[in-house]
Amino acid sequence: MIDVQAIRKDFPFFEANPDLVYFDNGATTLKPQCVIDAVTSFYTRHTSNVHRGDYAIAAENDRLYDGARSSFAKLLNCSPKEIVFTHNATASMNQIAYGLSHGFLKRGDVILTTEAEHASNLLPWFRLKEDYGIEVRYLPMDAQANLDLKAAEACFTPEVKAVAAALVTNVLGSILPVKELAAMAHKHGALFIADGAQAVPHMKIDVQDLDIDFLAFSAHKMCGPDGVGILYGKYDLLERMEPVFMGGDMNARFQKSCTYELKHAPTKFEAGTPNIEGVIGAAAACDYLMQIGLDEIHAYEKELRAYFLEKLSALENIVIYNPDNEYGPLAFNDKEVFSQDAAGYLAAKNIAVRSGNHCAKILHEIIGTDSTIRASLYFYNTREEVDRCVQACSEISLENAVGIFF
Ligand code: ALA
Repeated sequence: MIDVQAIRKDFPFFEANPDLVYFDNGATTLKPQCVIDAVTSFYTRHTSNVHRGDYAIAAENDRLYDGARSSFAKLLNCSPKEIVFTHNATASMNQIAYGLSHGFLKRGDVILTTEAEHASNLLPWFRLKEDYGIEVRYLPMDAQANLDLKAAEACFTPEVKAVAAALVTNVLGSILPVKELAAMAHKHGALFIADGAQAVPHMKIDVQDLDIDFLAFSAHKMCGPDGVGILYGKYDLLERMEPVFMGGDMNARFQKSCTYELKHAPTKFEAGTPNIEGVIGAAAACDYLMQIGLDEIHAYEKELRAYFLEKLSALENIVIYNPDNEYGPLAFNDKEVFSQDAAGYLAAKNIAVRSGNHCAKILHEIIGTDSTIRASLYFYNTREEVDRCVQACSEISLENAVGIFF
């Protein structure tokens, strides 16, 4: 059981902003004191580079940095050597796309994805189309971005070499039937690549049970620091994959003749000085979430969302785009007021939400609008905050909202 009032005490943000309702957790999340302490401690007590220094503090940082892989391995049920640290989920996804374009894919091969994806899981594939003639096709979805699994089977022609889809979509919160889709992909000889940015922070993801080949997500959406992405890959795939970046630490040796040998995964993907304090902070966030329990977090959020949906559905002025989904953000609009104006009104009432297309710029093909208000919750939000948001939503009107945005 989540004790939300006790949990809120872990987050200094609430003391600094006692009147703010923070419902923009899909964009980024708040940081508990243990994460802040882990990052600060690196700067105040044990600054050094990693994998390079021959002194005690450097050895301690090697232990903390590489030890962070064990925290994420425990979270995902994989081996620490299958955890690569990148700069964000986008960098992880670009690494996967680049890696596949070198040695895995050939002209005419097909990537299956969906129209509900974030830019980070579309543009890397669009570039493969442009540069290498890889085709991008879309799996069939309903109006709330739920996959039609039966119809999906027909999309698997022999040219399909990979499926790349969000485990939870960032606007509508639809949950992918991962296990079934991964099994379908594998049956047809395709890889299964998951965008886990909106899923890993909110529910238990077991990469072995789900049989995921690659998974990308970021630390900042799970109470960790900015600038840290995580890339999980099955080890044999990582070993076969070319890194995007070349440089220090990731090479075993190189010669004047321009020949070189790379280290093994995961090190070969981490060229240059990494975000050391970020990775140490990310491990603290990962441990913090595991201590609370991912199943507990998921259950709490689901129940809070149901409460929010019930209250918001009762408002005559509001249209909701994902009422049948059980999880994730609520995407809605006032029937008369443009989303950004409405979000401005909510901001004036100290309620933080995101409005617009949320980087999912072809989602309008599914929901028929390219601009929504998105209220995204996390385990530290409360029913009282939902009540305040719903009250403010009930007040949105052309008279009070238009032109208020700042
Ligand atoms: N990807 C983040 C979002 O959906 C920024 O808001």
